[in-house]
Amino acid sequence: PLVSMRQLLDHAAENRYGIPAFNVNNLEQVQAIMSAAAELDAPVIMQASAGARKYAGEDFLKHLIQAAVEAYPKVPVVMHQDHGQSPAVCRGAIDLGFSSVMMDGSLEEDGKTIASYEYNVDVTRTVVDMAHAVGVTVEGELGCLGSLETMKGDKEDGHGTDATMTRDQLLTDPEQAADFVKQTQVDALAIAIGTSHGAYKFSRKPTGDILAISRIKEINARIPNTHLVMHGSSSVPQDLLEEIRKYGGDMKETYGVPVEEIQEAIKYGVRKINIDTDIRLAMTAAIRRFFAENPSKFDPREYLKPAREAAKAICLQRYQQFGCAGQG
Ligand code: G3H
Ligand code: 13P
Ligand code: NA
Ligand code: ZN
Repeated sequence: PLVSMRQLLDHAAENRYGIPAFNVNNLEQVQAIMSAAAELDAPVIMQASAGARKYAGEDFLKHLIQAAVEAYPKVPVVMHQDHGQSPAVCRGAIDLGFSSVMMDGSLEEDGKTIASYEYNVDVTRTVVDMAHAVGVTVEGELGCLGSLETMKGDKEDGHGTDATMTRDQLLTDPEQAADFVKQTQVDALAIAIGTSHGAYKFSRKPTGDILAISRIKEINARIPNTHLVMHGSSSVPQDLLEEIRKYGGDMKETYGVPVEEIQEAIKYGVRKINIDTDIRLAMTAAIRRFFAENPSKFDPREYLKPAREAAKAICLQRYQQFGCAGQG
């Protein structure tokens, strides 16, 4: 059934596990996630960005997720709006039937300019009022996502930060988080703890302490009843990068967030872990390999099938690694 995100995250908190939230844009990704979750009896959070709604079309996206709910009646599914840039975007998602929305007020509506704290509180409170009235969960965001290695914010996807910001300014401040939750009443809070979106997170192999674990602990101590969310949580598996390169792709050296660090973060209150890039890499590696090995083939089903299986393999791994198996 379609469930609220609050319900799933409360269960995850009580039982101390984390739930991967996978981004979806098309049929094969939805099928991969559902098939993995059903196999392991895991709960599902499927999230759609504004770009996904634009790519698939609102009706297609809505009905793809509804089809997933119908095809797998026993699996609890959350349909979540990822990075809603305004109350209007969140309103649109709620009208479409989403059971959870993210109001990302850390940036202004252009998705680039760092917003004032007052603006963030104001838009997030507005969304909480309208969402809670109809049983929809709200995720907010406080702080600016960005790699602690480069001290720069995301470049790839427009969630920008200013290159002159210091480490402290980038990370979510625990006192401010407490005030933010008190003023907005959000159910979940995305925090900045050293991750960034996309494939290019770290240029050197992480040697532990990529995440600001002590900061997670401090934030969790101040807002124990608010579920923490980690964006930019792809691990960027090296074997997938190698496969992409081997079959003609051009990707420079890069590293993601090690799974062991995510497991550590789960111990201190991180409950929702956003993953998009790893599924993109898995599908691309599978398709590149297929075309290299089968240059005469042209039926999309033949190359989308291994791509779907590769996406499913990522989902199976993350459900297991985050402690989700058997929790559906
Ligand atoms: O936050 C970014 C997610 O990976 C979604 O990416 O905006 O390209 O759909 P997108
Ligand atoms: P990745 O780019 O690390 O997969 O992060 C996705 C994300 O945070 C979506 O909101
Ligand atoms: Na989100
Ligand atoms: Zn994100």
